[in-house]
Formats: sequence, structure tokens, C-alpha cells
Amino acid sequence: MQKRIEFLFLGLLIFGCNSSNTSTESKTTIVDGTTRYEVYQSSEMSALMKAMHSYNTQLKAQILDDEVTLEFPEAFENIDVAQLSDGKSRTQAFDHYSGKFIEAQKAIFEEDSTVSIKDRYNNAITMCLSCHQTECTGPIPKIKKLLIK
Ligand code: HEC
Repeated sequence: MQKRIEFLFLGLLIFGCNSSNTSTESKTTIVDGTTRYEVYQSSEMSALMKAMHSYNTQLKAQILDDEVTLEFPEAFENIDVAQLSDGKSRTQAFDHYSGKFIEAQKAIFEEDSTVSIKDRYNNAITMCLSCHQTECTGPIPKIKKLLIK
């Protein structure tokens, strides 16, 4: 149990948003006899973001292999409704970039596009980065690794 807690805490430090009071997970304390457990719960937005990250990791590999079988996941549209972690609400910047991001992520799958799939993919990842620059800087290094050089 202790290991797991440390691991989660480390995850928070690495991937959460920058400042200590804006973590992407909320903490609940469970007391079992004399033992106290700190349980971390991901927000809906945090869970969606993790899914978006792993999806794009896979998509990048498929583009590099020149064999794209993935499609645009409708679930990504939930970016407009998913609940953010404690105390955070959508800003104007968030709404602006979420629209741009969904548009760019969809454009990857337009078959008659004149732009290369690599450029369309990188454009979508750039939209992740644009939003993160104003809304949540912590995961930026992790997101940059998704870009295809
Ligand atoms: C419109 C703004 C916006 C866009 C676009 C966006 N993000 Fe996020 N991201 C956020 C916010 C805000 C959070 C913090 C979530 C919370 O506080 O609940 C976040 C959190 C994250 C996290 C941390 C999740 C965690 O709790 O560990 C990762 C990783 C992440 N985003 C990756 C991505 C990737 C990859 C993309 C593009 C495929 C992307 N984001 C696009 C705003 C955005």
C-alpha cells in the first residue's frame, strides 16, 4: 500500500499541473482502525487526458509505421463537459483551445486532405500544447514527446 501511495504521489508531481494547490487529483482520507489511507481520485478531465495521451502515443506509432487503423474517438468530445479537478473551472482560453484541438484531432482522419498525415498529427499535438501553456503547464514535457520529428 505504501509503495502505491508513493507512486501516485510521484505521478502527481510529474504529471499534475504546476503549482502545489492545483493537483489534478483530489485526496480522500480513509481511516481503517488505526491506519490512515490517503486515496487519490482522478478527476474526469484527468482520466480523459490520460486516455488522450495514450491514444496519441499509439497513433504516433501507427503513423510512423505507415499503417493507421485508429479512428477519431468520439469520447474526446467529452472535453467540453468533463469535470475538472477540485476548484477548477473552464476558462475562455480552455473553451477556445478545446474546440481547436478537437478540430485538429479530427482533421488527421480526413482522407482527401492535401496536408501530410504527419503534419496534421503534429498540428493536433500543438493544440494540446497551446492549451497547456495557459491552463496546465506540468505535463508539457510529456506531451512534447508525442510530436513526430
Ligand atoms: C483545452 C485545453 C486542453 C487541451 C486541448 C489538452 N489538455 Fe491536457 N489538460 C488540460 C487541463 C486543464 C488539465 C488538468 C485536468 C484537471 O485539473 O482535472 C490537463 C491535464 C493533462 C494531463 C495530466 C493528467 C493527470 O492527471 O495525470 C496530461 C498527461 C494531459 N493533459 C495531456 C494532454 C494531451 C496529450 C493532449 C492532447 C492530445 C491534451 N492534454 C490536450 C487542458 C488541456
